[in-house]
Amino acid sequence: MRRPILAGNWKMNKTIAEAVDLVRAIRRGLNEIKDVDRVLCPPFTALAAVKDLLQATEIGLGAQNMHWEEKGAYTGEISPLMLQELCQYVILGHSERRTYFGETDEAVNRKVKAALAHGLVPIVCVGETEAQYDAGQTQTVVSAQVRNALAGLTADQVAGLVIAYEPVWAIGTGKAATAAAAGAVIGLTIRGTIVELYGEAAATAVRVQYGGSVTPANIGEFMAHPDIDGALVGGASLKPEFVDLVRIAAQTKAR
Ligand code: PGA
Repeated sequence: MRRPILAGNWKMNKTIAEAVDLVRAIRRGLNEIKDVDRVLCPPFTALAAVKDLLQATEIGLGAQNMHWEEKGAYTGEISPLMLQELCQYVILGHSERRTYFGETDEAVNRKVKAALAHGLVPIVCVGETEAQYDAGQTQTVVSAQVRNALAGLTADQVAGLVIAYEPVWAIGTGKAATAAAAGAVIGLTIRGTIVELYGEAAATAVRVQYGGSVTPANIGEFMAHPDIDGALVGGASLKPEFVDLVRIAAQTKAR
């Protein structure tokens, strides 16, 4: 049985003061929801403050990006060594990083390896663009992203990952994929690629989230799909209603 995992990707939102307010508002409610991992991913600047607020809770903390080197002349970058002191998770290869900051599959692969080497759990994002979807390339694109991002990992390492399937056209648009379509990509393409490369055990163990316009209104539908283990939530994680979303997710999986 895979333990569900819900993560809130705050993106470039919230000052430290705003982050503190939100975490104070949701901390108790989130902490009370059992049997699912729940993770907050604030911007780098708020990580230390949020870490303090999450002490003595079971709520996880993650960053949204990371460089692969431990240190050096990389102005503006944050290393796995630095994150190790702050959090347990790191989102890697988000489509916004790929689109706006030129992040390649190769860079994502280096980051995944560096995160694992430092004991951080990567949340590896994959997903096709609208043009690729329209051209019927979803399977090819997503399968290649998975293959490239995980290149050189052991089956055990793959088993411990979190992968987020986020169709780019569904992110921030209010146009979520259907659970059936997302579940098919996750089951056939993502787990299928992993079975081929790393074997059945890794494919069965790896947790795969859906992401893209997830709200309290549609989370139940996604969680009811046997191949979907949780969600990476953007906009709906910025408000106290994120607690409702996680609660519905936990209740749905418990059924
Ligand atoms: P969204 O973003 O929930 O606002 O669509 C999801 C994401 O980009 O991780």
